[in-house]
Amino acid sequence: MNLSPRASRVVVAGGAGFIGRALSAALLEAGYEVVLLSRKAGKTKSGPVKTETWDGVSSGSWQTVLDGTAAVVNLAGAYIAEGRWTPARKKIISDSRLFSTRALVAGLSCAGSHPAVFISASAVGYYGPGGNEALDENSPPGQDFLARLCADWEHEAQVAQALGMRTINLRIGVVLDKDGGALEKMLFPFKLGLGGPLGSGKQWMSWIAREDLAGLILHLIKSGVSGPVNAVAPEPVTNRDFSRALGRALKRPAFMPVPGFVLRLALGEMGGLLLSGQKVRPKRALESGYRFKFPDIDSALSAIFRP
Ligand SMILES: NC(=O)c1ccc[n+]([C@@H]2O[C@H](COP(=O)([O-])OP(=O)(O)OC[C@H]3O[C@@H](n4cnc5c(N)ncnc54)[C@H](OP(=O)(O)O)[C@@H]3O)[C@@H](O)[C@H]2O)c1
Repeated sequence: MNLSPRASRVVVAGGAGFIGRALSAALLEAGYEVVLLSRKAGKTKSGPVKTETWDGVSSGSWQTVLDGTAAVVNLAGAYIAEGRWTPARKKIISDSRLFSTRALVAGLSCAGSHPAVFISASAVGYYGPGGNEALDENSPPGQDFLARLCADWEHEAQVAQALGMRTINLRIGVVLDKDGGALEKMLFPFKLGLGGPLGSGKQWMSWIAREDLAGLILHLIKSGVSGPVNAVAPEPVTNRDFSRALGRALKRPAFMPVPGFVLRLALGEMGGLLLSGQKVRPKRALESGYRFKFPDIDSALSAIFRP
């Protein structure tokens, strides 16, 4: 089948970030044309990836790139793990997701020909602190700040489904790779031999290798799936087991625990987030036929830190 240029185009909002960079590379390799939506004009001027400027709030000429594309992927949002969650910071975290998703869906509604699929980021924080219970896409939402934000964020994206587009809410776990995200932040103490579990270390961590996340998004573009999809590896780990695995991968000791009260004092409400977690299963990803390249933490970390 000969694809017209637009039918092979994927637009990635917030695509210049940690996940977007890996996704763009995977999309290009799979033969797609990639257009990023960024608030910074000319951020990725050179190379095969094109950038269209938007402000994440308003309508504008950027909307024309959405017309008739193979997929639109929404990764836009202010960084969550930065600074204390003051009311002002929470507002930035929320508004940057809700307003940008709303602007994107408004743009999609104006497109002469709708994209085949709209994939919008959400997070496993949707489920709230989950204890030891295994959660899948049918589990109910939590009630804390992040859970309510994820529910609202998903609701904004689902307007595209009501407009007739196949819409996926991607509930992403902790994305692992060495050049960004949570792992990059953890590396410094671990490399000094000062790494270790946070609090009791019993809290679950649902993670996904960045390469698998890009692979799953490519798979979902071609699949017929819609609705919520957990983007997590099949084998979540406790924080203690994660610390041990990271210590093994870096060949460093990982016995220096960080007491829970220190995290709470230092980070406030966000510290509480690190001390609780969710044990989330990728039920719908597996049912749809996605095969994880890195199902377990040791295989993921050893690939990430392979010299
Ligand atoms: N990384 C993880 O472990 C993880 C886990 C769960 C969920 N997620 C979600 O997945 C999405 C992508 O994550 P990421 O790790 O790639 O994040 P990232 O590196 O921070 O990239 C997000 C991008 O969003 C854009 N952005 C920031 N503030 C914005 C605003 N006010 N309005 C519009 N766009 C804004 C930025 O692009 P420009 O500066 O180019 O505009 C930024 O590059 C986020 O929504 C995040 O919450 C990530």
